[in-house]
Amino acid sequence: MPAIVLVGAQWGDEGKGKATDLMGPDVDYVVKFNGGNNAGHTIVIDGEKYALHLLPSGILTPTCTPVIGNGVVIDLEVLFREIDGLEARGVSTDKLVVSANAHIIAPYNRTLDRVTERFLGSRKIGTTGRGIGPTYADKMSRNGIRVQDLFDHHILEQKVEAALALKNQILTKIYNRRAISVTEVMDELLPYAARLAPMVADTTRVLERALDEGKNVLLEAGQATLLDVDHGTYPYVTSSSATAGGACTGSGIPPTRITRVIAILKAYTTRVGEGPFPTELFDADGEFLRTTGFEFGTTTGRPRRCGWLDTVIGRYATRINGVTDFVITKLDVLTGLDTVPICVAYDVDGVRHDEMPVNQSDFHHAKPVYEELAGWSEDLSDIRRFEDLPAAAQAYVLRVEELIGARVSAIGVGPGREQIISRHPLLD
Ligand code: GDP
Ligand code: IMO
Ligand code: MG
Repeated sequence: MPAIVLVGAQWGDEGKGKATDLMGPDVDYVVKFNGGNNAGHTIVIDGEKYALHLLPSGILTPTCTPVIGNGVVIDLEVLFREIDGLEARGVSTDKLVVSANAHIIAPYNRTLDRVTERFLGSRKIGTTGRGIGPTYADKMSRNGIRVQDLFDHHILEQKVEAALALKNQILTKIYNRRAISVTEVMDELLPYAARLAPMVADTTRVLERALDEGKNVLLEAGQATLLDVDHGTYPYVTSSSATAGGACTGSGIPPTRITRVIAILKAYTTRVGEGPFPTELFDADGEFLRTTGFEFGTTTGRPRRCGWLDTVIGRYATRINGVTDFVITKLDVLTGLDTVPICVAYDVDGVRHDEMPVNQSDFHHAKPVYEELAGWSEDLSDIRRFEDLPAAAQAYVLRVEELIGARVSAIGVGPGREQIISRHPLLD
């Protein structure tokens, strides 16, 4: 019956993978509905670390069926490398279902992503270089390659030919790169077709049936609210719909079947790549968060930009996604601070903004207005009940809850699957 959406509240890397994983056995289907291998989710089970990019986090739960929805873009080499890597570690990927309508990241899109960034120079987005933007651009301009095209040699050839007619002009004439041949692209994509075929389905039907049978379906976002192409800090965003609305278009599950929206909020803020970030820290506190929180990208290894928690963003995430429950992650990382600042509003040229400014230039100039809360020194990693948290940590969570306008149902106190404090069940 219920479809539940799980999104990131900030700029990604909030711990969505861990949150999905911890619901594990109670969830029957986990659907990735947007993004591709720009995502990186680290999940720690019994001290073993798994880094997932393209596969839904549910792949680590044997009872769960992982689904790659139509809203995802797939790099076939990465998909099979990830599958082989998990199989080699004894994780079965047999249940994986892939939408026939998902788009394929063609080699020319990876090339275009990288050369465009180089061309932009100081105006670059700081993409992951995985071909994500150009592949979504092709989808929207209706010259993309879809999973189903792989199974008809003739159709695939025609589509690649049509795409390359334009891409090669751009590659050779604007970027001064060599042209890519149709054969090259076919030779890269076609060998995967036979292996992919048994996984491919009309995932909209699979999910409809699952919901009719009363199964729990979790729709897991890649990226996050402020990286969403419509609602994020455009143009410093990814090219897909990472907010709750994207869960419907990216999976084919209608809005009327969604009963809950869970947002993951890191107890501080991080961002990878370029773009505005009001609470960013350039001092020892920023270094403390990066080192203690181990804030280095799962996908590109880049150090993440770090700053204090921004509840203007939290409130915005509540509003845009219709959040019913928050999971606050990495509370343990804040241990040892004398005071913990929370951004409650912005000052833009002397004017106070309590809500996210619609005008990007205001957001660029926003100076955080902080409220200072008392810190705590106790190690939180073994705490499993809210009442056992130090009083200052409890006060921090309760104040954040008040500021973001939706209840905090769980709190992460370490990377491990079991390192969680539950306040309200995430599944009914
Ligand atoms: P995702 O992209 O949203 O799935 O997040 P990432 O996996 O990229 O980054 C989150 C990182 O924080 C991972 O290394 C997790 O193992 C780790 N993590 C998740 N929850 C917690 C937590 O509550 N405490 C600590 N210390 N680490 C956590
Ligand atoms: P998860 O799912 C953090 C960022 C990139 C860049 C911008 C556009 O792990 O939270 P893209 O390659 O998508 O065109 O890059 O988006 N970005 C992420 N940042 N976490 C992610 O995913 C991200 N996926 C993309 O750094 O700024
Ligand atoms: Mg990540």
